[in-house]
Amino acid sequence: MKAVVINHYGNSDVLEDTEITKPTPEPNQVLVEVFATSINPIDWKVREGYMKEVIPFEFPIILGWDVAGKIVAVGDKVKNYQVGDEVFARPANTNKGTYAEYTLVDEDLLAKKPTTITFEEAASIPLAGLTAWQSLLDVAKLQEGEKVLIQAGAGGVGSLAIQIAKHVGAYVATTASKENEDYVKALGADLFINYKTEDFENIVKDFDVVFDMMGGEILDRGITVLKPGGRIVTIAGQPNQALADQYQVKAYSYWLEPNGKQLQEMADLLDKEIIKPQVNHTFSFSASGIKEAHDLSATHHAKGKIVIKMK
Ligand SMILES: NC(=O)c1ccc[n+]([C@@H]2O[C@H](COP(=O)([O-])OP(=O)(O)OC[C@H]3O[C@@H](n4cnc5c(N)ncnc54)[C@H](OP(=O)(O)O)[C@@H]3O)[C@@H](O)[C@H]2O)c1
Repeated sequence: MKAVVINHYGNSDVLEDTEITKPTPEPNQVLVEVFATSINPIDWKVREGYMKEVIPFEFPIILGWDVAGKIVAVGDKVKNYQVGDEVFARPANTNKGTYAEYTLVDEDLLAKKPTTITFEEAASIPLAGLTAWQSLLDVAKLQEGEKVLIQAGAGGVGSLAIQIAKHVGAYVATTASKENEDYVKALGADLFINYKTEDFENIVKDFDVVFDMMGGEILDRGITVLKPGGRIVTIAGQPNQALADQYQVKAYSYWLEPNGKQLQEMADLLDKEIIKPQVNHTFSFSASGIKEAHDLSATHHAKGKIVIKMK
């Protein structure tokens, strides 16, 4: 099968087209023909070698951890899926990712693809969507009527987080550049803050929750806008515990867990158009297409999600 791999760490020129053997599912796995995958910042962070201590994958590495496609083979112990099912998933963390014509997914990480959206749209959801879902609902336990500040609301995670927070019934403030003001408001944001001209801590105060995807000093500043008892969740670093204690808030660093059951709950919301996929950039399935996609993601200014279309 065709795959795009890296044989060593480096800039986006290390992405290579190759042919490898089609994998065979373990008893608890299915083999998915990949119709679309998406790009997440973790892809180019692994490619650069930034993650090698935390995720020591062996080469060659197939990057990519989002898939939408059709099941073409099932393992002996798979109970709830069959050949022909249209599915999407955030597969397990392995060095055999989704930049390939076929990929393996554990049954418990699968969800049925929403029928009302395309494969490209479905591929844009799992990693970013589960991250937003788990951070806001499982970790921060965001409640109806609460106020949440979502940093980087125009990005892959942020654009889904705004919609999830609005679905819960929260008041949403978000940071983005002026170019994305209309975009984040259309997603449901109640308050837009232009991070290039305004300091968010001068505008929002006594918030219940902050969802941080920036880390560093922005993460520290986020702590200061919470009321006592508030919660901050970051997916981009480690919170300053002393500062959190000073402001009497709970601070969490979070890494998503692939989860088919939660993804199925999101699929229902996608089918009902309560959450809308945010595909704004599409590239072809080839080393050169994925190189362009990585370079765009690494600018930190992609809008919504970047998708790779296979079929
Ligand atoms: N821990 C985990 O499990 C996990 C999971 C997913 C992602 N992450 C991490 O979370 C981060 C965000 O991921 P993502 O997929 O959402 O990235 P992304 O799509 O690449 O984010 C791009 C967005 O960031 C915005 N942005 C850039 N600088 C900003 C600033 N100073 N203030 C506010 N917004 C700013 C941009 O808006 P403008 O163009 O308007 O500037 C752009 O829309 C990445 O570092 C990623 O690695 C972690």
